[in-house]
Amino acid sequence: MAQNYFQNTAETPDPSFEVSLRPPLFSEFAGQQKVCNRLELMVQAARQREDVLDHILLSGPPGLGKTTLAYILANAMGGKIKSTSGPTIEKAGDLAGLLTTLEKGDLLFIDEIHRLQPAIEEYLYPAMEDFKLDIIIDQGPSARSVRLNLPKFTLVGATTRAGMISSPLRSRFGMNCRLDYYTAEELQSILLRSSGLIGVEIDQMGALEVAARARGTPRVANNLLRWVRDFAQVRANNVVTQPVADEALSMLDIDRDGFDEMDKRILEALIHRFEGGPVGLNSLAVAIGEDAGTIEDVNEPYLIMQGYLKRTPQGRVAMAPAYRKLGMREPSRSGDLL
Ligand SMILES: Nc1ncnc2c1ncn2[C@@H]1O[C@H](COP(=O)(O)OP(=O)(O)O)[C@@H](O)[C@H]1O
Ligand SMILES: [Mg+2]
Repeated sequence: MAQNYFQNTAETPDPSFEVSLRPPLFSEFAGQQKVCNRLELMVQAARQREDVLDHILLSGPPGLGKTTLAYILANAMGGKIKSTSGPTIEKAGDLAGLLTTLEKGDLLFIDEIHRLQPAIEEYLYPAMEDFKLDIIIDQGPSARSVRLNLPKFTLVGATTRAGMISSPLRSRFGMNCRLDYYTAEELQSILLRSSGLIGVEIDQMGALEVAARARGTPRVANNLLRWVRDFAQVRANNVVTQPVADEALSMLDIDRDGFDEMDKRILEALIHRFEGGPVGLNSLAVAIGEDAGTIEDVNEPYLIMQGYLKRTPQGRVAMAPAYRKLGMREPSRSGDLL
């Protein structure tokens, strides 16, 4: 579905596009002011001491800049970055292979770190704490453990599910940063920067229109910009103004609240099929034919943040704005609780 292409994928369909828009410096990274202040201070302190950075955990919904910040940090420290992700490290040997190629001050970026296997996590603890790695060589009676010294490195972990990180792992990070959704003004400035890089002419109001419909997410904003550029090229002499942006996004069925088809289907299923909930995530996912993990990671955080939906121990519940969104009045709750 076209809408999924723009909003419901955690990964962008064209990674090179994303890489080309990635700001390389803190000074070009918009928003997340508190997080940036902390990280910049850590960099400055580490550099003054000629030491390596402490381990850093970045959490938050997809597309808010976790990977970007990891690269900015490596850049600011003048070290190299090795990038991997939790599910791709299948064996302890994979981790050992990565760790033993690091040099002092390098940064190891583990994306989706909540998906590391517990056995691999165990290997990571001494590596993070003491820069040692215990590996088992040989099998059977001759198996023995060998301790390797690692160079001092920085682990930067990223996760969309901070709650799924085990507490022993979490406690080994010196800094834990949570990224939040961006304001429309912050996204507007990101879009103005991106438009210069991809060579599309967009005015302030055009950028604000795209920003307001980007669900607080830079990745979504940049992807929408790409669509708006195409639209302007074919229909509007290559210039994106507010009416042009509006028309382009309406053509994608992205409404004024930034809702796409999937968001509307979630609310419709919740209200029409499950009487507003509470309903379990899996039942909801089956009803709309979407992966439960995608709903939970990609759609829900924004719907929850905007007050359309609530997570309760009994399941998902539609809130008043969800009924209004579908042009309905909220039913009185007292009745269905009896
Ligand atoms: N604060 C920001 N300023 C400018 N661009 C950003 C910012 N945050 C994210 N982006 C852009 O959004 C896209 C997605 O960011 P990314 O770091 O890959 O998100 P995450 O790793 O959190 O899913 C990238 O193309 C990046 O350039
Ligand atoms: Mg990422």
